[in-house]
Amino acid sequence: MRIVFLGAPGSGKGTQSQRLVERHGIPQVSTGDLLRAHVREGTELGRRAKSVMDAGKLVDDATILGMVEERLARPDAARGFILDGFPRTIPQADGLDAMLAAIGQPLDVAILFNVDADKLIKRISGRRTCEGCGRVFNVHTSPPGTPPHCTQCGDQPRLVQRPDDDEEVVTRRLDVYNEQTRPLVDYYRARGLLREIDADADVDAVTRRIEQILQRRG
Ligand code: AP5
Repeated sequence: MRIVFLGAPGSGKGTQSQRLVERHGIPQVSTGDLLRAHVREGTELGRRAKSVMDAGKLVDDATILGMVEERLARPDAARGFILDGFPRTIPQADGLDAMLAAIGQPLDVAILFNVDADKLIKRISGRRTCEGCGRVFNVHTSPPGTPPHCTQCGDQPRLVQRPDDDEEVVTRRLDVYNEQTRPLVDYYRARGLLREIDADADVDAVTRRIEQILQRRG
């Protein structure tokens, strides 16, 4: 399956991607994670991207498309993938279309995660990420245990808050989503690929809703 997860910051795309990776054996391709890896490794791309990300704006389309093309060329993506946080602009969606047309593997579905804006701020403010493996937790809804530890890595790595999860930056990210990414809802609807889910439910219920959609497509 070739899947796009579409939705505002904090709507649960990363959390659900991590679950699908385990269930379906296809990789999660998160442009946010790829960019954060570049920042951590101090690459030239990472240095350019950091100030843009910290300000809650979007990294330029050419950089993102180059990064995704390279990632999708790896062997683990041959059986399918979950695109998490990409595409985010119409030019990115057009670029993805062209990339997939060239290899004769079009998208199967774009799933839109619907959650009210006030809930998103609460979710994001409570998010903690495992520095070791990237597992996502939430101090309100999926607490990482006492003392805090990662249930995936087993040991006790630091659980960190993302620099762009500061409230002012989150507000900017939501504005950017509404201005630049929301138009993709109509883009995928017009192509008959859009499916919407109410993602304002517990994590297991949201997973079930996604699985129902995938069963119907598969
Ligand atoms: P990115 O990392 O993609 O962030 P995002 O899209 O803003 O999404 P988030 O990671 O904030 O949210 P999510 O939907 O994955 O939610 P999560 O599952 O973590 O991008 C970061 C930055 O990189 C961008 O701002 C931009 O600068 C740049 N960038 C990335 N991609 C780009 C692109 N394509 N083009 C240009 N620039 C790009 O959940 C959030 C919290 O809620 C967690 O704590 C979780 O535990 C909790 N939670 C999840 N599900 C539920 C539930 N059902 N109920 C209760 N709590 C829940």
